[in-house]
Amino acid sequence: MTKTNQVKIFDTTLRDGEQAPGFSMTSGQKLAMAEALEGLGVDIIEAGFAAASPGDFEAIKTIAETIKDSTICSLARCMESDIRASGEAIKPAKSGRIHTFIATSPLHREFKLKMSKDEIVARAIRGIEICREYTDDVEFSAEDAIRTERDYLKRVVEAAIKAGATTINIPDTVGYTTPEEIQNLFEFLTTEIEGADKAIFSAHCHDDLGLAVANSLAAVRGGARQVECALNGIGERAGNCATEEVIMALNTRKDFFGLTTRIKTEGIYGASKLLATLTGNPVPRNKAIVGKNAFAHESGIHQHGVLANRETYEIMKPEDVGVSTDNLVLGKHSGRAALKNRASKLGFEMSDNQLQSVFVAFKELADAKKEVFDADLEALILGEAVGTQGPWSIDSLYVSAGSDDNRSPQATVQLTHENGESKKAVSEAAGPVNAVFLAISDITGHPLHLESFTVQSVSEGKDAMAEAAVRVSTEFENYQGRGASMDTVLAGAKAYLDVINRIERRAVRQASIAAQH
Ligand code: KIV
Ligand code: ZN
Repeated sequence: MTKTNQVKIFDTTLRDGEQAPGFSMTSGQKLAMAEALEGLGVDIIEAGFAAASPGDFEAIKTIAETIKDSTICSLARCMESDIRASGEAIKPAKSGRIHTFIATSPLHREFKLKMSKDEIVARAIRGIEICREYTDDVEFSAEDAIRTERDYLKRVVEAAIKAGATTINIPDTVGYTTPEEIQNLFEFLTTEIEGADKAIFSAHCHDDLGLAVANSLAAVRGGARQVECALNGIGERAGNCATEEVIMALNTRKDFFGLTTRIKTEGIYGASKLLATLTGNPVPRNKAIVGKNAFAHESGIHQHGVLANRETYEIMKPEDVGVSTDNLVLGKHSGRAALKNRASKLGFEMSDNQLQSVFVAFKELADAKKEVFDADLEALILGEAVGTQGPWSIDSLYVSAGSDDNRSPQATVQLTHENGESKKAVSEAAGPVNAVFLAISDITGHPLHLESFTVQSVSEGKDAMAEAAVRVSTEFENYQGRGASMDTVLAGAKAYLDVINRIERRAVRQASIAAQH
């Protein structure tokens, strides 16, 4: 393939990202995320690992049926059963890819696979041939490529191209490489490999040393024309190369890289927020591109400079990534069309049903609050349209608290389960939030051990919306929950219940998987 000046963005939020502890999503959530990635203009969406579970298979298939503007990819080990599962899952896609991999480094050969060099090459060739029964778009990864001997890596890659792989991925599986080293490796591969012109070379970097984005960009300098990345940098261990960072680096420093992507960058912030809400993992304030502080200028010197000329301290415009700057939005007289329009500017395309429920919540908020800022609206959309899911919902909540030594803070909570059952509990504790959590645990039967509970305001003023985040660990999983409300205690209750809903939904999923086996 002749080297173009366009870099393909292969987003693995829904595979490498989703497989990391604390980031699992339901099939419906994965579809919502895939739609956001398609809207962003991602070239390839790695939607999952079809052979991992029937749930993963179904999620990939549903995404393949729905998404039209991105290629849908499923991961498969170089094993016939994995590859056939991937082939079936991507069958409905307008454009489908199978991504098959086998480890090539000495450590993996000896201790994990217990296979010889020849056996691995043979397995790779056979795997690619089976992939080709389903699609011409086949990606091959040499897992732990960075720690593989160069001459052997060359041999494997040449065999893979000959067998019909059209994308060759060189993963830094353990996040071990450096920019200079990976650039040099890509220069070597793209010039020395026989048949290199028949494939696109791809980088897949992990962030164990905090170098994933720098390494991916260096790989591009060395000749890679596909970057594998995940939104908010999620992924195994320290995560993957962050999609938003690599895109904005290529975009902002076009003068240096001389390369383009197909990405509509204005959708970045909305997609990042959506992921944070769906998985319950808030984006750190200081996160590059999508953190709350990424475009905030607090110090006097910076504010002075920015007022005189934004470019003194800003290398990107907030609106380029979908962060809105004209902050004051809607009031209680604003209608549905204005709401939909504003939401779309913030990067949220809502269906009619979503618009309806957000509109009702917006009217309530606008009644209680004089000015509805973008951040309020965003919290509302994420809560109403995509964030909150059952089975439990809050019917009513009342707390009493104060400094009276003779009375403890008390909470009365009523919850309804989607099966119609409604339950009430009254609890006392040292603080009102604690009392609410106890009442919710009492009703749902989940005595959770809280790891952290944080609340922050999403906009300005005394009547700002509060966003609460709860983190909980159980024997099997880490869970994060999120809730937003003008009432801080209610925001905390929603976040706590969000965790319980996630636990219950997971249990239902596990039961259905067990029933199918
Ligand atoms: O990190 C890795 O090596 C992977 C491969 C499956 C591509 O995720
Ligand atoms: Zn990986």
